[in-house]
Amino acid sequence: MTFHLIASLMTPGHFRSAWRLPDADPHAYLDIDYFRGLARIADEVGLDAIFLGDAPALGPEIATNPGTGIDPLILLGHLAAVTERVGVLVTSSTSYNSPYNLARRFQALDIVTKGRAAVNLVTTYAPAAAANFGQTEPAAKETRYRRAHEFLTVVRRLWDSWEPGAIVADKASGRYVDPGSIHAADHHGEFFSVAGPLPVPGDHPVVVQAGGSEGGLNLGAELADVVFTVAQTQAKAIAFRDDIRRRAVAAGRGADDVKISLGVIVLIGETEDDARTRADELYATLGLDQLARGVLAALGLGDRDLDEPIGIADLPEVPVAEAGSVGFQVSTRALLAERPLSARELARHAPGSGHRLVVGTAEQIADDLESWYRAGTADGFTIMYADTAVDFERFARLVVPLLIDRGLFRPAESGSTLRDRLDVPQYGQRRTGNAAVAG
Ligand SMILES: Cc1cc2nc3c(=O)[nH]c(=O)nc-3n(C[C@H](O)[C@H](O)[C@H](O)COP(=O)(O)O)c2cc1C
Repeated sequence: MTFHLIASLMTPGHFRSAWRLPDADPHAYLDIDYFRGLARIADEVGLDAIFLGDAPALGPEIATNPGTGIDPLILLGHLAAVTERVGVLVTSSTSYNSPYNLARRFQALDIVTKGRAAVNLVTTYAPAAAANFGQTEPAAKETRYRRAHEFLTVVRRLWDSWEPGAIVADKASGRYVDPGSIHAADHHGEFFSVAGPLPVPGDHPVVVQAGGSEGGLNLGAELADVVFTVAQTQAKAIAFRDDIRRRAVAAGRGADDVKISLGVIVLIGETEDDARTRADELYATLGLDQLARGVLAALGLGDRDLDEPIGIADLPEVPVAEAGSVGFQVSTRALLAERPLSARELARHAPGSGHRLVVGTAEQIADDLESWYRAGTADGFTIMYADTAVDFERFARLVVPLLIDRGLFRPAESGSTLRDRLDVPQYGQRRTGNAAVAG
């Protein structure tokens, strides 16, 4: 069995302060040549997909760190044109898009990339985004997930518009399509009214879902192909994967129809000493105190000594993540249940998020991924890089060959679709229940 590898090309890296390092280019996130270089490496070593996260708002830390980048759909459309086999995965918001536009855009990306497109649908927790779309504040999380569910249901109906073989192109009779094979979405729901159909035929691009709250888990299990998750302990990751698989079966799907992709941050040294030195350099660029205070706020702990150990008993009963992420909180709680850590230690542990940071040589990183995979934590990994400019290439050139040698990773082949590589079935709703367009 092999696992998938998705590269999250966040700039400047998961350490948002990596732009301050002496060799770093602080303007890389606006530089198409920089992204082209990364995409070509991903393509060359056969990674399954490159991923660009997004939020439709100025990054909240822009005073100190590069934030949201250029529109990633446009960027990945370009990168797809300079690559041949790597998949292109981009975040889009269900709260600030319309299903018709999104369905059409991603169908287009899938057609022009010959089946390499994927969308990471999120409800967007960035509070600043709401004001860009006529809202004074984001809708409540429960409402956002209700909308997301309806959104993806409509998107799937739109992707089901055309039956295979609808284009008959009979030159003798002049009949181009069989109109009875094109179906309206004909959707009238709480949030959307969408007639459909889409103007051209296509497949369903791969759909990823990244929310860890109840609404996110159900959305992922019922309607997504891949679920992104975060875990600091193997036990938490295994329980999460089992949970999603159970929910998929309860929703009438196969347990294997939904794949789990676990986020991991890597910091790679040529030797263990080099890895430690690089980690020290990166930590020195971070405002660790500020980060630690952010950790306290995210956990709902407010003012507290940054060096005082936090045990699971110190945390509020219910995750306080109306604005933030339940998924990240559950992950941190699982870690604190194993051993108390101070806010400063937590900030060091996973700078900037709840994702697990692995520091070591290429061999050690490969060992880590192997052990997590063999323990049944995930179907693959979304790799983030401490300093993307350095760690991405080291991962691609040094870790990937080890994973191939160990039989854990199979490089993508030209001509294969992302859906095939991730081993997720074509979504099974095509045509069912859609009213035919009169023809
Ligand atoms: C690997 C991973 C990648 C994510 N990427 C994005 C992103 O690009 N944009 C975004 O707004 N949220 C992103 N999220 C956050 C989730 O989609 C979700 O909005 C957040 O976790 C809050 O919802 P929850 O409480 O259901 O977890 C990501 C989460 C994970 C685990």
